[in-house]
Amino acid sequence: MNLQPQIRVLPTPGDVARFAADHLLDAAREAVALNGSFSLALSGGSTPRKLYQLLAAEPYRSSFPWADTEIFFGDERCVPPDHADSNYRLARDTLLSHVPIPTTHVHRMKGESDPVAAAREYQQLLHDRFGVGPGLDLVLLGLGEDAHTASIFPHTPAARETSSWVMGYFAEKSSTGPSWRITLTAPFINRSREVVFLICGSSKAAPLQQVLEGPCQPEHLPAQLIRPTAGKLLYLLDAAAADMDHD
Ligand code: 6PG
Repeated sequence: MNLQPQIRVLPTPGDVARFAADHLLDAAREAVALNGSFSLALSGGSTPRKLYQLLAAEPYRSSFPWADTEIFFGDERCVPPDHADSNYRLARDTLLSHVPIPTTHVHRMKGESDPVAAAREYQQLLHDRFGVGPGLDLVLLGLGEDAHTASIFPHTPAARETSSWVMGYFAEKSSTGPSWRITLTAPFINRSREVVFLICGSSKAAPLQQVLEGPCQPEHLPAQLIRPTAGKLLYLLDAAAADMDHD
């Protein structure tokens, strides 16, 4: 049974980041109280940078349950971890190297390895951790101008996948041009207890409107694939992405 998506519109990207930081803190505290741990998948791209920088600073640096948090990734570009395009590098430089999270709690997708082998290894990790019961506690996602999310791009094998949890494949038209990618798939993301989209900027208004209000065509609009089976779905938007600034 899919719950209805929640939509929260905040005035600016900074407001979105602050709301998201508080929301993540609440979710983490609740998960740790219930299950003793909080599993979080980070998204890539540029939008989450403000959120990661907030979480790396006070009061979140001291109040977030980092010792009980496990970090996963929604997707990765197939580049070394120090490459400018690496989603891991973004998270490491803006957040992970600034907070007291055990290094063994950070589960990097190995962008430097063979994509198919790295995807298989990551899928085994997820099966070992989440094979029974729900998936991740919370997955952060972004939205591309082509309505992709994670590295699930339109009209690709990832957009058609119905069983694997992780895929390594060559995307002809990715957000960084033709590139190999590793990505969580919709079947796994939809096992999460909660999925939160962070979407900011006027360039996202049109694809977002198609995803939320257009016809159901998930292979063309992969973000439409994200419908948690039993979990919550929250869209955090700034006014520009929500197209609220048009009179
Ligand atoms: C990636 C991201 C991708 C991103 C969107 C939005 O690896 O490219 O995971 O899904 O979230 O492309 O990116 P921006 O936040 O930069 O607009």
